[in-house]
Amino acid sequence: MDMPTNHKHSVAKKYYGLIIGISMLALAGVAVMPWLGEVGLANPKTANISGLWLNFLGEFHFLFLHLPIGATVLVLSMEVIGLIFRGKYKPDTALALGFAASSSVIAAICGYFLYLTGEYEGPLVEEHKRDGILFTVMVILTFLVKYSYDLKLIPWFKPIYIICLIATGAILISAGHHGGEMTHGSPMRSLPSKVIEKREARGSKEVISDVIIYTHIVHPILDNKCISCHGPDKAKGGLRMDSIEAMFEGGDEEECLVPGNLEASFMITSIMLPIDDDCHMPPENKKQITDDELKILKWWIDIGAPKDVKLSDVDVPEAIDTLIATLLSSGRGK
Ligand code: HEC
Repeated sequence: MDMPTNHKHSVAKKYYGLIIGISMLALAGVAVMPWLGEVGLANPKTANISGLWLNFLGEFHFLFLHLPIGATVLVLSMEVIGLIFRGKYKPDTALALGFAASSSVIAAICGYFLYLTGEYEGPLVEEHKRDGILFTVMVILTFLVKYSYDLKLIPWFKPIYIICLIATGAILISAGHHGGEMTHGSPMRSLPSKVIEKREARGSKEVISDVIIYTHIVHPILDNKCISCHGPDKAKGGLRMDSIEAMFEGGDEEECLVPGNLEASFMITSIMLPIDDDCHMPPENKKQITDDELKILKWWIDIGAPKDVKLSDVDVPEAIDTLIATLLSSGRGK
């Protein structure tokens, strides 16, 4: 039978111009994205209605980001298998690359909306933003090169395709790693050697009189329950709690910490609000502050929220002393 030699590619060929056009538009759009909009534009507290929609769409970053990761890893795997079975298996990766590219555009746009809320800041966020955009640009380019090469339009594109694909994979690792670190912390902290190190450090308990109240008792409580959202990488409500100075500055709307004044210190009143209150801290589905921890925090604010004062420098009521001893010996403090 007389089959046209390019039968397999007829659809791909028919839409080539259109797809190149759309891809170029997406490429340009994503590349200029960092110069559009202003941080704070989508801030849930201050934004107007269109900003609030951006804030909402931003949440979908966490859904879409996984699609280009999966598709890119699939393409890399197909190429490796193609390499192993040289000649016998020719991977057809254009479609998967097209999927990676389009889902990556959506993920990058949603990610940028999230950035515009102003609730993610710090060097890690800037690196992740750069990598995310770079990745999207690279994966679109890789797709275009592969697409054109498959149609035999530009025959010498093969080596360029391979280089693009390797670069795309490398940027993916960086973007994914920084992104993961932002939301989940570094995975390296769970290396068995690190975990054992921590356990041993706890075993060698320090003499309790050397304990600095803020550093060894208060900060660890906040680190455990608050700083993931109120720290260097995320400052929800414009509030950071990773240093006393930042706590004194407070958030966008509330005083966080007022020495000697529990009612004015929203870090305390927010914890004491009913759990289903929108302003209750930490938010409903997160690890909560225990009664004992709350008593300790209140006591610390009552005595003036000192920064460098040691436990041995102050009169500790017996009830608090017991709570602190339990906290420190359980290894949750320090
Ligand atoms: C899961 C993330 C998360 C955790 C964990 C968390 N917060 Fe919040 N916090 C938020 C968000 C979001 C807001 C903004 C809430 C709003 O405006 O409705 C906020 C706002 C605040 C504010 C008000 C800031 C302002 O000026 O508007 C205070 C104070 C606060 N949190 C204290 C705490 C304390 C204390 C903890 C730990 C016990 C904590 N938060 C843990 C997410 C979190």
